[in-house]
Amino acid sequence: MSEPANTPVVTIVAAVAENRVIGRGDELPWRISGDLKRFRAITWGKPILMGRRTFDSIGRQLPGRTTIVITRDTAFTRPEGVLVAPSLGAALDKGMGEAERLGVDEVVVVGGAQIYAQALPQAGRLRLTEVHGAPQGDIFFPEFDRAAWREIAREGPQQGEKDEFAVSFVDYERI
Ligand SMILES: NC(=O)c1ccc[n+]([C@@H]2O[C@H](COP(=O)([O-])OP(=O)(O)OC[C@H]3O[C@@H](n4cnc5c(N)ncnc54)[C@H](OP(=O)(O)O)[C@@H]3O)[C@@H](O)[C@H]2O)c1
Repeated sequence: MSEPANTPVVTIVAAVAENRVIGRGDELPWRISGDLKRFRAITWGKPILMGRRTFDSIGRQLPGRTTIVITRDTAFTRPEGVLVAPSLGAALDKGMGEAERLGVDEVVVVGGAQIYAQALPQAGRLRLTEVHGAPQGDIFFPEFDRAAWREIAREGPQQGEKDEFAVSFVDYERI
């Protein structure tokens, strides 16, 4: 059954290396300022969903966006303005409501690996920063069936002066 036209789309945003690494411990395994800029542009003004570990690793509420943290910890203490959800489904429901309230057409899932893996089946858009390298790491983007996705935009490869790796910005839409 097709969704009503005005249902916000679930978009996954991730920076993924050639070996599928997205994290090392609690941190990003690289410094790539172009990726941070793109992340800000994509997520600005929208609800963003993240796992509790990613929230802890960012360490603060990102301005200009509604943050929804997914955690099983009923004692999780959140900064003022941050929303909390006990499951991905509850977070998506909250995100849809927020998207409608904010008048935007996307709910953006921003990681980490646990949340990407659970959200992928529900995602309609993937906006990847493809990192051209294979850094060491222990947190991976899930394997996904590329045949189910159509590339709709590609920019790069490009590498800023202070960036550790070249990147391509690639958008996919579910077929
Ligand atoms: N490269 C990128 O684009 C990118 C983006 C984001 C993050 N990262 C990296 O990814 C790493 C973090 O990812 P991660 O996989 O370790 O953790 P995560 O997905 O950020 O968070 C995991 C936590 O989310 C909660 N959770 C997960 N599934 C849940 C469910 N179904 N219901 C309720 N709560 C649920 C649990 O929190 P509780 O334990 O509190 O219950 C769990 O410990 C870091 O290294 C970070 O730097 C990379």
